[in-house]
Amino acid sequence: MGMIGIALLALLGHYGVKFAKASAIPYRAPRQPCTTFNVQVPITARQHLYDVVPVNNNIDAIHFAQDIDTWDSPSMVERITQNITISRTYDIHAQLCVSADGKKKNLLQIATHGGGFDSRYWEVMLQPDQHSYVRAALAAGYSILTYDRIGTGQSSKPDAYTDIQLPAHIEVLRVLRVLTEMVRNGTIASIASSWSCSGSASMHFDKIIHVGHSVGSITTYGLLSSYPTLSDAAVLTGFLVSKEVFDGRQTAGDLQYAPQNDPYLFADSSSGYAIPGTSGALQTGFFSSSVNTTTHIGGFEPEFLDYAYAIRQPQPVVEFGSGIVLYAEHSTAPLFTGPVQLLVGEFDFIVCLGDCKNTYNTTQANEMFPKARNFEIHLQQGGGHGLPFHNNATMGFQAQFDWLARNGF
Ligand SMILES: *[C@@H]1O[C@H](CO)[C@@H](O)[C@H](O)[C@H]1NC(C)=O
Ligand SMILES: *[C@@H]1O[C@H](CO)[C@@H](O)[C@H](O)[C@H]1NC(C)=O
Ligand SMILES: *[C@@H]1O[C@H](CO)[C@@H](O)[C@H](O)[C@H]1NC(C)=O
Ligand SMILES: *[C@@H]1O[C@H](CO)[C@@H](O)[C@H](O)[C@H]1NC(C)=O
Ligand SMILES: *[C@@H]1O[C@H](CO)[C@@H](O)[C@H](O)[C@H]1NC(C)=O
Repeated sequence: MGMIGIALLALLGHYGVKFAKASAIPYRAPRQPCTTFNVQVPITARQHLYDVVPVNNNIDAIHFAQDIDTWDSPSMVERITQNITISRTYDIHAQLCVSADGKKKNLLQIATHGGGFDSRYWEVMLQPDQHSYVRAALAAGYSILTYDRIGTGQSSKPDAYTDIQLPAHIEVLRVLRVLTEMVRNGTIASIASSWSCSGSASMHFDKIIHVGHSVGSITTYGLLSSYPTLSDAAVLTGFLVSKEVFDGRQTAGDLQYAPQNDPYLFADSSSGYAIPGTSGALQTGFFSSSVNTTTHIGGFEPEFLDYAYAIRQPQPVVEFGSGIVLYAEHSTAPLFTGPVQLLVGEFDFIVCLGDCKNTYNTTQANEMFPKARNFEIHLQQGGGHGLPFHNNATMGFQAQFDWLARNGF
């Protein structure tokens, strides 16, 4: 690790952030200059205990969903039984990609994935040139940090009831942002070269762009609302704003208990770790077979549904509900002044019940960001909720990059 590494650990220790293990892995694919690392992230978050059916097996999982969806059941706000403050240190697994010759390598995107997946959502390895957001961002010249939210992938698997809620997700994102700030302002300028990440010894990020998908967009929205100066621009994909239309049926998820769904894949999941139980459940929420009738863009190939199911991850029971509570507590991001783009699939079932063209409430969306320098809603033709899995996904990626470029990023 050498002098730089030791100095780095000392500095990070000073900020309470520790690298548990920094392992430079070989490039995942030619000319994709990425490195993965685990970092210990200390957070304090004010959360809630909720009155929900505990999930310890598949029968419980359906019971949980029915209980939430029952016609006159209490709202998530009404299910709060206690306010709690948690102080924890989580292991967060992350990947930083910096293209040595990237035209915009000093602009760092920090991407937060949504429910049902981990950071691999951003890096579909089936026909990656057509479906990997990480690869597209690198090709467009950006640097990009992806990470597994707690409860998923190779990050910590804490208590599903007390820990895996939106405030904790927001705090993790905030601390990761501080970490990247230290990269950006030169405090740990040599980090990239010491991890053989970019071949550039003088790494320096000028701007941070936050990108989210679904629950990751709610997390990003929470960051913009609570910590408005920590971001320079935001792209929220698959973002929930048509509250009247959205009815978030848990029963549509065909939920199972993760360790019962796959004892090998989810051996480290515990009580409360629910998961879309079948590929059909993922299809309902994340995929659209409809094709734009004018342009013939969209739909998906069956192998992408198989692929998505193979990389599925738990969506612990109160995670999504805590997002609804977050909206109730923070209905706007009143002080965020950077540009905001919302990008949703034309046929997104989770956000718009399959018809975003006619149901997406642009006024309501705009009101959430009253001080945003520039605001745009872009509908990705023929897309469903899981945008990268669909045909012509790169058109959506390009719409994000074009919009960022128009705003100086
Ligand atoms: C939680 O805190 C809020 C705001 O302080 C308060 O209105 C509410 O009554 C508290 N809920 C419980 C269950 O203590
Ligand atoms: C770099 O960023 C960190 C984290 O925000 C901050 O504490 C530190 O003072 C900054 N250093 C410089 C030289 O700006
Ligand atoms: C298809 O794309 C066109 C061109 O962007 C758009 O005008 C139209 O509303 C989309 N949807 C349908 C159902 O044609
Ligand atoms: C859209 O949102 C605005 C502001 O919240 C509201 O006044 C309006 O009624 C909504 N429109 C529809 C069609 O729901
Ligand atoms: C959309 O994707 C399909 C399937 O990959 C492809 O045949 C078609 O050329 C694409 N259309 C555009 C406009 O890129």
